[in-house]
Amino acid sequence: MNSLGVVILAAGDGTRMRSGTPKVLHPLLGLPLCGHVVRAARALAPDVIVLVVSPRTLCLRAALGEGRLAFALQDPPRGTGDAAARGMEALGREFSGRVLVLNGDCPGVRADVLVRLLQAAPEADATFMSVELPGLTGYGRVVRDERGDLLRIVEERDADEETLAIAEVNAGVYVFDAGSLRQALARLAPDNAQGEFYLTDTLELIRAAGGRVAVWRYDRPEEVHGVNDRAELARAERLLLQRKLAELMAGGVTVSLPETVRVDVDVQVGRDTTLHPGTILEGGTRIGEGCVVGPNARLRAARVADRVTILDGCVVEDAEIEQDVVIGPYARLRPGTRIRHGARVGNFVETKKTELGPGSKANHLTYLGDARVGEGVNVGAGTITCNYDGAAKHRTEIDDGAFIGSNTALVAPVRVGKGAYVAAGSTITRDVPDGALGIARGRQANKDGWAERRSSKARREGGSDE
Ligand code: UD1
Ligand code: CA
Repeated sequence: MNSLGVVILAAGDGTRMRSGTPKVLHPLLGLPLCGHVVRAARALAPDVIVLVVSPRTLCLRAALGEGRLAFALQDPPRGTGDAAARGMEALGREFSGRVLVLNGDCPGVRADVLVRLLQAAPEADATFMSVELPGLTGYGRVVRDERGDLLRIVEERDADEETLAIAEVNAGVYVFDAGSLRQALARLAPDNAQGEFYLTDTLELIRAAGGRVAVWRYDRPEEVHGVNDRAELARAERLLLQRKLAELMAGGVTVSLPETVRVDVDVQVGRDTTLHPGTILEGGTRIGEGCVVGPNARLRAARVADRVTILDGCVVEDAEIEQDVVIGPYARLRPGTRIRHGARVGNFVETKKTELGPGSKANHLTYLGDARVGEGVNVGAGTITCNYDGAAKHRTEIDDGAFIGSNTALVAPVRVGKGAYVAAGSTITRDVPDGALGIARGRQANKDGWAERRSSKARREGGSDE
C-alpha cells in the first residue's frame, strides 16, 4: 500500500482574531483549535503527521506532542505554500506516496470525510475539497473552464467582481502526490495581493505541468468552515459540541436542554447518566454509569465512578469520586480530593488534598484541607481544618468512626483517634486519643434573673419603658 503523510498548517498568526494569542492556539472544547484537526488526522492512522508551527505556536509541541506527531518550523510565516514546503521538508526527500494537507484552522473536519476525499481520485496528482458557500467571505474561489475543469483558485483579495460571485470555494483540504507537490512548491512565487506563497497556486502549476487535478465537492460546508474570527470560533464550538452531545446520547446518556450543556471532546460519560442543564464537563473528565450531574455543575479532570449524584452548583476539579456518593448542592471539590464510596459531601463544603473515607459524611458548611478522614466519620456542620499557619500547610487525621461536633476548629497538625468524639464548638489543638472525648471551649455560666435585673436598673436611671 502507498504511504500516507499528513501536513497540518498551524504557523499563521490569525490577525482577524484580534488576539495576543495565535489563532490555532485558541482553546476549543478542551483542545487548541488546531488540535481538532490533529485528532481527525490521527484517526486516519497515517504513516506520519507533521504539524507546521511558527516560533509563536511552537508550544503546540507540549500541548499535542504525544503520539505520532512531528513538527516543522516555519519562520517567518510567508503563506500557506511556504508552510506546506516546510512540512514537506520534514516528511523528507525520500517520502513517496500521498500527502494530505490540512489547514489547521478547520476544526470541524471529520476523519471519515477525509477518507472519502482520499478515495475520490486515487490516481490524480492532486485532489482538493470544494464546497458551496455563497455569501461567506475569506475563501478562495474555484474557477473552472467552460468544460467544468479546474483552472485555478483565486483568493478573495485577488479576485475581480465576476470571480467573487462564484459560490464554489476551496475548503482548505487537499491530497497530493508527494512528488507533484514538491515540484509545484519549488515553483511558487509570491505575486499576489498579500505577497505570500499560496498553497492554492500549486494546483494550477500541477495542471500546467500536465498533472491531473480533481475537485471533490462536499455537500456539508458547515463542517469545513475555517475559523478566522471570534464569531467563527463560536460557530465551530457549537458544531463540535452538537457532535459530541449526539455521540454521548447515542451511547445512552440523557442530556437535558443540550444547548445549555458544554462537554469537551475528550470527556467520557457512561450510559444512563443524566446531565442536567448548565452542566460543564471539561479537561479529561470521566463519569461512570447511572450518575446524575447538575444542574449548573462544573467538572474538570474529574474521575467519577458509577451511581454518583453531583447536585446543583457544584465545582469539581482534579478530584476522584468513588461509587454511590452524593455531592452538593453547592460543594467545591478542589485538586487532590478523593471521596470514597458511599460518602456524602453536602452544601457549602470545600475540600482540598483530602480523602473522605467510605460512608463518611461532611454535610454542611465545612472546609477539609490536607486531611485524611477515615471510614464512617461524621463531620459536623461548620467544621474547619485550620491547615495553614501562614507559612506551611499541616495535616489533619480523623480516624474511623470519629464524631466531630459542629463548629469545630481542628488546628493542624492534629489527629482525632478512632471512635473519638469532639464536642461542638471546640478548638482542637492537641490530638484526641482513640475513644476519648475532646472538648475545648469556654464553660457556660447562666446568671439567673439577669434580664429582670437589667431592666429595673434601666428604669431607676430614668429611662423610659417605651
Ligand atoms: C485559505 C486558502 C483559501 C481557502 C481557505 C479555507 C490559501 C492561500 N488560501 O485561506 O483558498 O478558501 O483557506 O479555509 O491557502 N498558515 C501557516 N503559515 C502561513 C500562513 C498560514 O501555517 O504562513 C496556516 C494558518 O495557521 C491556518 C492555515 O494555514 O491554519 C490557513 O491560513 P489562513 O490565513 O487562515 O488562510 P485563509 O485566508 O483562510
Ligand atoms: Ca482560514
